[in-house]
Amino acid sequence: MSNILLGVSGSIAAYRACDVARELMRAGHTVRVVMTPAATRLISPDTFAALTGNPVVVDVFDEPEPGQIAHIRLAQDSDLLLIAPATAHTLARLALGLADDMLTTIALATRAPILIAPAMNPAMWTHPATQAHVQTLQARGVEFIDPTYGVMACGDEGWGKIADTPVIVQAVQQRLQRAQALKGVRVLITAGPTHEPIDPVRFVGNRSSGKMGYAVAEAALAHGAEVTLISGPTALTPPAGAKVVRVQTAQQMFDAVQEAFDECDVFIATAAVADYRPERALPSKRKRDAQRWTLRMVANPDILGTVALRKGSRIVVGFAAETDKALQHAQEKLQRKNLDLIAVNDVLEPGSGFEVDTNRLTLIYADGRIEPLPLMRKRACAEKLIEAVRMIVIQRWGKL
Ligand code: CTP
Repeated sequence: MSNILLGVSGSIAAYRACDVARELMRAGHTVRVVMTPAATRLISPDTFAALTGNPVVVDVFDEPEPGQIAHIRLAQDSDLLLIAPATAHTLARLALGLADDMLTTIALATRAPILIAPAMNPAMWTHPATQAHVQTLQARGVEFIDPTYGVMACGDEGWGKIADTPVIVQAVQQRLQRAQALKGVRVLITAGPTHEPIDPVRFVGNRSSGKMGYAVAEAALAHGAEVTLISGPTALTPPAGAKVVRVQTAQQMFDAVQEAFDECDVFIATAAVADYRPERALPSKRKRDAQRWTLRMVANPDILGTVALRKGSRIVVGFAAETDKALQHAQEKLQRKNLDLIAVNDVLEPGSGFEVDTNRLTLIYADGRIEPLPLMRKRACAEKLIEAVRMIVIQRWGKL
């Protein structure tokens, strides 16, 4: 069973954390509690200490075990950090990465999955500032147990009541299971565009933002995989916990993949690799001295197609961004590149393709199975893709 760190912040719903702690212990977990100073005004730390049988920490300088630095120990020894209830103020501090009390300090120091059950007045929950913080945290892989609709302690009615205890407990159980789903599996991912230099100031590129690949990396991490992300130039922040190799050109991406491929179990090629590069990158900036300028392009290596030839028992997954006959072209690519799975999308379809946050993928398996997915956020698409990979992992190597 797991070590769960329960963070309690200063909402009137703090008393509900007692039930949550008790139910998690009933499910066999060890529960330790960290409270914000505001929460201690609503419920006593002694209540949680008595319930859980473990000392409760509040102040960053609380050191219940001599010789141990409490915030680092708790951060490293916990399998999951559940913050229930989370106030608007706590969400803001987490989103900003502040470490001004024990709870936020641990949240920064831990690499364990974080689940948050917010509780606050509906006007505060729906405020754009709070929602922006939620999005920031979600982008970092933090997951939310959404508040429910109801009448608040203050009498206001709306969305903001902490989720019911069984819902919170079930979310914790599912998150813990998911965190083990690809434990020990090494996943190599390419993401983003490549930039092929023309001269020191110009390049040939494409419209890939890297969002899909970064979302796949986040989803793989959330399933407990060891992730190496080989990224072309993007404006995105890589997910915490991934080993990141940054490249500019297709050749550099090829070299980085060749080097990392032997050490991976699963390779997922989401990058929009430039198929061609200028034959010669000019050493200095080309001047405007003629009416015409013809660039000679030469082919780049097919990264996915090359490494898939020596894939052995590895699982190799490709993407296909198509503009016509999407399924037919993707099926051909699956066979030509010796893939186990290909995710295809029609980039001309609204909401599906480059730069946007959503995608509509169809998964095509090597055995011919076709699984169309609805239009979803890229993070949700990534989750489905990683679940599909997990099924192939189980089929190939048995239960993890
Ligand atoms: N890919 C790659 N190296 C390349 C080109 C593509 O690794 N030089 C990978 C992509 O990351 C993707 C898959 O191959 O997973 C399909 O990419 P796509 O550009 O659709 O395929 P191509 O083989 O380039 O075919 P075409 O452009 O003719 O459709």
